[in-house]
Amino acid sequence: MRIGAHELSTNLFLSPLAGYTNLPFRVTLRELGGLGWATTDLVNARSLIERNRNALKMVESSPEDRPLAIQLFGSVPEEMRDAALMCEEMGAQSVDINMGCPVKKVVKIGGGSAMMTELDKTAALVRGMIKAVKIPVTAKMRLGWDDDNLTAPDLARVLEDTGVAAIFVHGRTRAQGFSGRVNLAGIRSVVKAVKSIPVIGNGDVTTPVAAKHMLEETGCAGVSIGRGAFYDPWIFRRTAQYFESGELLAEPPFTERVRVMRRHFERYCEFYGEDHGARLFRKVAPWYAKRFGPAKPFKQRIITIRSRTDFETVLAEYIEWRSQYCDEEGELLPRFALGPMTASFMSDEAEPAGLNRSAIPVPKGPVDVW
Ligand SMILES: Cc1cc2nc3c(=O)[nH]c(=O)nc-3n(C[C@H](O)[C@H](O)[C@H](O)COP(=O)(O)O)c2cc1C
Repeated sequence: MRIGAHELSTNLFLSPLAGYTNLPFRVTLRELGGLGWATTDLVNARSLIERNRNALKMVESSPEDRPLAIQLFGSVPEEMRDAALMCEEMGAQSVDINMGCPVKKVVKIGGGSAMMTELDKTAALVRGMIKAVKIPVTAKMRLGWDDDNLTAPDLARVLEDTGVAAIFVHGRTRAQGFSGRVNLAGIRSVVKAVKSIPVIGNGDVTTPVAAKHMLEETGCAGVSIGRGAFYDPWIFRRTAQYFESGELLAEPPFTERVRVMRRHFERYCEFYGEDHGARLFRKVAPWYAKRFGPAKPFKQRIITIRSRTDFETVLAEYIEWRSQYCDEEGELLPRFALGPMTASFMSDEAEPAGLNRSAIPVPKGPVDVW
């Protein structure tokens, strides 16, 4: 599939997750394979043009971090335009616009994003950005404010006419937050609303089977994965393989999980400095631990680390402790082994047999904006 002129290696995308989809994570995922396109955390357009240190850190990239979209947030047309230009100059392949909710009553009480309430105004803002840059501009939205206001299809249509290159849609309303399950029919209505640009479906994809289900049920051109990439950084490779050959690769063994976690950690230390990187990694490591099997002592101690040495000590002691649950190869004994990874679908129809519809935890973060 393509975004603008870019031919992607797969139709699998990394969803922006503020506080997590930083350069260390993106590069770690890319190295594992299967990821066709990644987006940065949401960045405030004004902060970027003011060269705010944190904003610049969020858009930091590297040659292996390609193709990359920078996600901007803002409602002042000139700021969004200038920030888009800056993204282009910095070498981003695309700019993605974070769009909040489209309903007037929400904006009146200060809850929603004014940008989405006035389609004409939004179109003008987006047109200004598209005119200013050569790289494609895309938009990310929810289905609407609530079930009575599913405005995403209308918005998608207007944005396509404005020249947006692709639409990312998380199949929940803003009122829903992260509750319930993703509404695949809602995503399908956005797919149907546009003429030719790709619509990328997003929400609750935690397994290759769930990704296929999303494609089949909605007709979307690609699948964007957020929390599922925490659960399983190998999800892009496993899904790409599944799409290509129907083969479901086994989940990686413990040793591979530790190897990748260590690389991810090391990149945090390089990127943020050892002390800050180690502290930030405290909220990342527990996601790896979800698939370690018994891991209580690891989870308790990893949230106290302040250095590389701390990390290695906690890990070494944990591996030693874990061995009581393992066979000679270091794999969990059958009675401690984990079940297969589960998927969660909103759609009640056609759920593949044997998949457990458990909810996905939401990592801590300022989730209000999306
Ligand atoms: C902690 C967290 C941070 C997020 N940050 C962003 C963001 O910066 N920009 C955005 O458009 N969406 C953001 N989202 C929404 C995700 O991109 C995605 O739409 C949502 O999590 C559903 O996909 P998933 O089920 O694959 O995680 C965030 C979600 C979470 C849980």
